[in-house]
Amino acid sequence: MSSNTPTTYRIAPSILSADFARLGEEVRTVIAAGADWIHFDVMDNHYVPNLTFGPMVCQALKPHAVTPAGQSVPIDVHLMVQPVDALAQAFAQAGADYISFHPDASAHVHRSIQAIKAAGCKPGLVFNPAMPLDVLDWVIEDVDLVLLMSVNPGFGGQSFIDSTLRKVEAARKRIDACGKDIRLEVDGGIKASNIRAVADAGADTFVAGSAIFGKPDYRAEIEAMRAQLAR
Ligand code: DX5
Ligand code: ZN
Repeated sequence: MSSNTPTTYRIAPSILSADFARLGEEVRTVIAAGADWIHFDVMDNHYVPNLTFGPMVCQALKPHAVTPAGQSVPIDVHLMVQPVDALAQAFAQAGADYISFHPDASAHVHRSIQAIKAAGCKPGLVFNPAMPLDVLDWVIEDVDLVLLMSVNPGFGGQSFIDSTLRKVEAARKRIDACGKDIRLEVDGGIKASNIRAVADAGADTFVAGSAIFGKPDYRAEIEAMRAQLAR
């Protein structure tokens, strides 16, 4: 990293792997266990072959996205939907903080980014494992988040795709060259055993679904990740 200030890492548990019958409680529990953001995976059975939850669920969870001391925790909405704009607006109204979409799912990427900003949210762009980063050349100043998929989107519990590390390095160079404060997040197959390598490549924000919600003790898992990041 080119910056002299220490990186502030963020861990964003994905509620895709939480117990859907107790979602509000799961959100509170994982925040009390140390989560920095709540990652909210929206799948439409069209852009990806799976179907999850929509803006009404986000709205219902918003009051639960708080620390035990009452501080609000960002909701990081990852849209795996096509088209993008109408749902992005609905999520902005439902309390999302970050709204990220796949550029290949929007006919007009610049317009979608501006619409998310105009709705008061922080826009992000998501890149599938085989997608080049080229679109960033034209819109990087307008985004607050770059999200690199380290699995193919649609399902939790998949294995980390190693070529992502090279892509994280490439994205880090573009972000540092831009000079804006942009989060570089990686999503898929992250666990305590590989989070350090992803951070070393230049990521500062880490989605983890099954690695956290698949364990009985969320705090132990988040602390194991933080211990790796502190090394
Ligand atoms: C996959 C989702 C991920 C998923 C990650 O399409 O975007 O956020 O929840 O799950 P794990 O951490 O289990 O790979
Ligand atoms: Zn995701």
